[in-house]
Amino acid sequence: MAISRRDFMWRAAALPLSGTVLHGGAARATAAPVLRAAPGTAKLVPGDYPETPIWGYDGGAPGPVIRVPQGERVIRRFVNELPQPSSVHWHGIRLNNAMDGVAGLTQPAVPPNGEYLYDFRAPDAGTYWYHPHNRSWEQLARGLYGALIVEEKTPPTIDRDEVLLIDDWRLASDASLQGGFGAMMDWSHGGRMGNWLTVNGIGEFQQKVRTGERLRLRLVNVANARIFPLGLRGLDGWVVAIDGQPLARPEPAGRMVLAPAQRIDLVVDVVAQPTGFASVDFLDGDEIYPLARFEITGKLRNQRLGPPAALPPNPVPEPADIGKARRTVLRMQGGAMGRMPGAMMGGRMMGMRDLVRNGRVWAFNGIADMTDAPLLAAARGETIRLEMINDTAWPHAMHIHGHHFRKRATDGGMGPLRDTLLVDPEETAEIVFVADNPGKWLLHCHMLEHAAGGMTTWIDVKA
Ligand code: C2O
Ligand code: CU
Repeated sequence: MAISRRDFMWRAAALPLSGTVLHGGAARATAAPVLRAAPGTAKLVPGDYPETPIWGYDGGAPGPVIRVPQGERVIRRFVNELPQPSSVHWHGIRLNNAMDGVAGLTQPAVPPNGEYLYDFRAPDAGTYWYHPHNRSWEQLARGLYGALIVEEKTPPTIDRDEVLLIDDWRLASDASLQGGFGAMMDWSHGGRMGNWLTVNGIGEFQQKVRTGERLRLRLVNVANARIFPLGLRGLDGWVVAIDGQPLARPEPAGRMVLAPAQRIDLVVDVVAQPTGFASVDFLDGDEIYPLARFEITGKLRNQRLGPPAALPPNPVPEPADIGKARRTVLRMQGGAMGRMPGAMMGGRMMGMRDLVRNGRVWAFNGIADMTDAPLLAAARGETIRLEMINDTAWPHAMHIHGHHFRKRATDGGMGPLRDTLLVDPEETAEIVFVADNPGKWLLHCHMLEHAAGGMTTWIDVKA
C-alpha cells in the first residue's frame, strides 16, 4: 500500500495534560491518540518557492490518513493549538450526534489550548474525510483537512490504494496564502476560488506505476468551493463508490464531476504503456490540467483484468413507503444576480444592505441564519422527501450530516447514495432518506462561503 508516509505517525500522548477534555468518552483520554490542529508549513509549490505557512492537522496539509476497519471505533484526542477555536467534523460518517463536531450545535467550539475527545464507531466502509466545523471557510482554506478511510471487511483485489485529496489554494506570488477570507465578493459569488491546485498538498503530484496495475483511487474534493470536472488518461476503469457508499453496479469511469466535499472511489487499470504516462485530469473548460500524474516504469501484467465486483453494501436504511413520506421544501435564495430583496435574520426582516453588513448574502426559505427552529423535525425512522429548489444563479453542493440520501428523479428512479449533492442553478432536486439517526444534524451548502453567508440550517431527528 502506498499511502502518505504521515500515516499513523501519531504524537502519542506526548503532550502535557493541560487544557480541559470537554467530553469524557469511554476511553481513557491519555490513551487516545492525539490529533493536533496547529500552524505549520507545507511545500505546496515546487522549485525555489518558499514553503507556505498553513494550518494543519499534526502540522501538515493534508493531516494524517486515519484508517479504521468497518464497525470499529475512531478515537482521537483533539488538541487545538490554533489561535482560533476549532472542532473536528467527520464528514459522511453516520455517527453518534455528540461526536459530529459542529461547533455551536453538537458541542462548544474547542478554544485555543483546549481539547476534545472524539470517540465514535464507523458503521460504513468507504472514503470519508475530516475537517473543522468552526470558521470552516477560513480553517479549510488554510489547510485543515485529512482523509478518514473505513476499510471493507473483504477489500477488493487491487494492487495499490491511493487517497487523492484535491485542493485549491489562493496563493500570493511568494507562495504564501492570500488573506481576504471573509471577502463578500467571494461569498456572494462562487466562493473562495484559488489559483494553485494540489493533490495531497503537492503541486505536481506524481507516482510511479506499471502497465496493467490495478489501482483504487479515492478522490476527495477538499476545496472550499471549486467544482472539479475530471477525466482520466492512460487509466481505464470504473466508479465503485460515491461519497463512501458502494454502487450496486460499478459504472465505467468517463467524465466525472467532483463538487466540494464529494468523493469518488475508482478502480482503474493502468493501460498506458511503458514510457507513456497516465493522469487524473481537471477538465478546466477547454484545458486539460493533470492533477495527479502517473509515470509508467514497467509492466506488471499484459492481460486486462475483468471488471471489478461491486463493493459490499453498507447498512444504510432504504426508504420504504415513499408515497407516504413527509415532504419538505428547501428553497435556496440570494447571492449575486439572485434578486433576493431581503431575508429574516435574528428574527427580523432585513434588506440586502443590512444582511450584507451582517455577513449574509444567501438564505434558505427566506431565513439567513441558524434559528432555534429546525427546517424539519422528524420522528426516528421516518422517511423524508426533501425538495431542494435552487432559486439562485449559482450551483450549490448540498450536504446533510449523519445521513446518506438518494436523489429521486421525476420518473421515480433513485440515484446512488450520497451525502453531498450538486444542485445546479434553476434546478430542483428531490432527495429521499430515512431519518434514523437521532440528534441535531446540519444541512448546508458545502461551498463554505455560502454556508457561512446564510446557506445553513438543521434538521432534528427525535430519539
Ligand atoms: Cu463537510 Cu458540515 O461538513
Ligand atoms: Cu452554495
